[in-house]
This record gives sequence, structure tokens and C-alpha cells, in this order.
Amino acid sequence: MPARPSSRALPGALLLVLCAACSGGADAQDPPAGGHGATAGAAGVGDTLFPKLGNGGYDVTGYRLTLDYTPDSRHLKGTARITARATRALSSFHLDLAGLRVRKATVNDRPARTARGGTELTLTPAAALPRGRTFTATVVYDGAPKTLTDPDGSKEGWIETDDGAVGLGEPTGSMTWFPGNNHPSDKATYDIAVTVPKGLTAVSNGELKRQETNGGRTTFQWHTGEPMAGYLATVAIGRFDVQTTTTGDGIPQYVAVDPTETDGPGHLPDQVTDVIDWETRTFGPYPFSSTGLIVDHLPDLGYALETQTKPYFDGAPDEALIVHELAHQWFGDSVTPRAWKDMWLNEGFATYAEWLWEEDHDGRTAQEIFDDFYDGTDDESDGIWDFPPAAPPTARRVSDPPVYGRGAMVLHKLRRTVGDKTFFTILRTWLKDHRHANADTRRFIALCERKSGKDLGHLFEVWLYGDGKPKKP
Ligand code: TRP
Ligand code: ZN
Repeated sequence: MPARPSSRALPGALLLVLCAACSGGADAQDPPAGGHGATAGAAGVGDTLFPKLGNGGYDVTGYRLTLDYTPDSRHLKGTARITARATRALSSFHLDLAGLRVRKATVNDRPARTARGGTELTLTPAAALPRGRTFTATVVYDGAPKTLTDPDGSKEGWIETDDGAVGLGEPTGSMTWFPGNNHPSDKATYDIAVTVPKGLTAVSNGELKRQETNGGRTTFQWHTGEPMAGYLATVAIGRFDVQTTTTGDGIPQYVAVDPTETDGPGHLPDQVTDVIDWETRTFGPYPFSSTGLIVDHLPDLGYALETQTKPYFDGAPDEALIVHELAHQWFGDSVTPRAWKDMWLNEGFATYAEWLWEEDHDGRTAQEIFDDFYDGTDDESDGIWDFPPAAPPTARRVSDPPVYGRGAMVLHKLRRTVGDKTFFTILRTWLKDHRHANADTRRFIALCERKSGKDLGHLFEVWLYGDGKPKKP
């Protein structure tokens, strides 16, 4: 059976593990320091499922991360230079950072006072930041980055592999390897430079701008020019075979495979090209300047992740999984939910992309797959009625089957109600209107009603927000 991400829940991982990101965390509000009416920025953006994530009072426009990692000692040295704009007058502001030692911090190149509490790092600049002002914050840090265990038992953050490590960030783990505004609502560009022992490769998002070996260490400089949510940032360090090609539209493609997983890249580069070309025909223009994927060897991970421009796989993927993760480049990476409760905008859509692919490639029709889910005969359908897709009850359940399978069923019901032509117009308009930005379910419903001219209230009430299994129509 292909390892499809019907949900990320690990078998038997029902025990409640305390989430590092959700626990503790002093919200010490610093007293206003100088400035006129400048106050402390909030320690969270108010995400209903993850209240501590992200920070208030500023918008990041770009991250410049300079990292140095030695697998043998597990030592990471980092400098994060963050360019941001104050959205109100700030006497201090928060960054999210889990573990690691902060050696030094500056704001606008002047020393800033630092305080730590839980996963909050507070910087107090020498002078308050006026509203609207663009500023840079630099944090120099080091240590052995942590692996986080999510409430559902899965691992994320910084994870060691047999030949290196990988940084994975959904939903909270990016703060284990760099400080930032760790919430999908604040997207930014990234420049990530990673230095590793010679012989190892450091793969990251975007395009490789430079590769240079000096004194037994190699630096890989990666650039992501389109806005990216922090949870989609990655660095994969280890031994990789790399093959660079281009897609049908001439988009540069970088495929990195762990030689212990497959003997050379094999069919993967062609497969990526086929899938990207089909998804471009189905959904509209590919949203980024490059594509590809990373196949690592991390058999205990149990999931893949749609890291921007290069999805990450814990082992050699099957075709459906490649279709799923590359579909996320449109749904999730380019158009990103503003809050985690809207995760079905990622997973329902990427799952429906698999159904459309199967329908277009001599498999079951989407209607047949829908029926198999409805009847419970598809083995990805276990648990899909547990809660409504647009309302995960707790953080622990944000990647459970209703968000995937039943999310895809919502889209299929919509397609049957408005017809193919309007349905694909809706998808393409959605992708165009919110390209490289954030969106939410309310906007999606409004778009569906506008394009179809229909009142779809009942459909969404029953399929997206209704408890239990809807009656067969
Ligand atoms: N988004 C991943 C996928 O497509 C699955 C996943 C990995 C995930 N980590 C997660 C989902 C954390 C929710 C939360 O398949
Ligand atoms: Zn997914």
C-alpha cells in the first residue's frame, strides 16, 4: 500500500505528549521603554489552536540565516538577520526560539537586551521602534538544536539522520533552528547559507546561488525570493546525489536523493517534471522560481513535508505522495492559511489533487474515490467523520483524517454542485487572488458563491462544518 498522507497520526501514538511549543513560556511584558506610547509586542498572534506561536507588533520581510553545522558534535552555530517592519510603536518585541543559547542580539546594529522564557525570546532595543519603521534584528546563537515531539507523537524541528540532520517546521519546529515570527501568517523571503563538513551537501529552499569549499568545509548559499511561511523552511544535511534539470516550462529543478534510499535519482527527475507539468495544466502557473524534491533516509519519521520548492520525503516516495506534496506548492505554500485551524485548505486540496491525478491517469474516478471514502472501503478513510474538516478541535488533531479525506470530499461535493468549468475557475482564481499570500475559509466560500452564483451555505454547513457523517444525498 502506498504511504499516502491520509493523516500524519502515528499508529499507537495516542499518548498525550506535552508540546514544547504549547507549554510554559513566560509572557513577561516588558514595561514601555521610552518612545511615545511605544509598548511591548505581543508574545503570540492569537492562533486559536497554537496561541503561543508567532508574535505581534511587526511583520518580517526577510530572513538571512547563516548556519554552520557539524553532525559529529551536533553543534549548530547560527546568525539570523531579520528585516521587519514595526506595525505599531514597539518598546520591545518577541521572537520564537526553542532551546539554543543566544550569544548576542542587536537591533539596527545597536546592542539589544535579551530575555528568554519558554519559547519566547524578547529583544528590547536601545531605542523604541516607531510604527511603520523598517528595522533589522540580528541574533547570534548556537547549541545542539532540539527535536520536538508534537502532541500527536510525531517528530519535528531539528532531527538527526544517519549522515546529518534535517530541519522540519510543521507546525512549530522552525524555531528549533532559527529565531523568527513562527506563524504562517507572516511570510518572508529567505537567504539561507549553510556550512557543513566537506563531502556533505546542505539542501534548502529556493535556488542554489553559490557553493564554495574552504578549509575542509563547504558552504551552500540558497535563496528564496518568493514569500515563504516559516514552517516550510528546511535544511537537509547529509550525503545526497543531486540531479539538476528543468521542467517543461523551463523551471529549474533540483532533485537530491540519499544514495542509501535509491540507486541514483532514477525516474525521480522525470516524475517531478511530469507532475509539475500536469499540476500546472490543472491549477495554473507554478508559483515559484524553482522546483525539485529531497529524498532523505529517515525511516522513523513517518511523514513527508511540502517544504517550499523542494518537498522533503523520509524515504523513496510513491507517485501519489509526490503528487500530494507538489500540489502543496500551490495549495499551502503559495496560498497559505492565515491560521492553523484552516489546515484543510492545505490538506483537503492536496488530497483532492491526488484524486484528480488518479482520475486523469486511468485509475478510479474522483467520484469512485469519494464513494470509497463515504462507504469506508478506502483504507485512507478511517476516522474521517471524527470532526468537521474546517474545525479541528485541538492542536493534536490538526493533521487527522477529517482534514485530509473529508476535506477532499468537500471539494468533490463542490465540483459536483457547480460543475467542472466553474470548479476549476474557482481553484485558479483562488490561486491567483492569494498567490504568495495568506487566505482563510471564509474567503474561499465567498469566492465559490461569487463564481457559481449559487448559495452554497448548506453544502459547506453540512460537509465542512457539520458534525458526523452527512446523509447520502
Ligand atoms: N503536511 C504534511 C503532508 O502533506 C504532513 C505533515 C507533516 C503535517 N507534519 C505535519 C500536518 C504537522 C500537520 C502538522 O502531508
Ligand atoms: Zn499534505
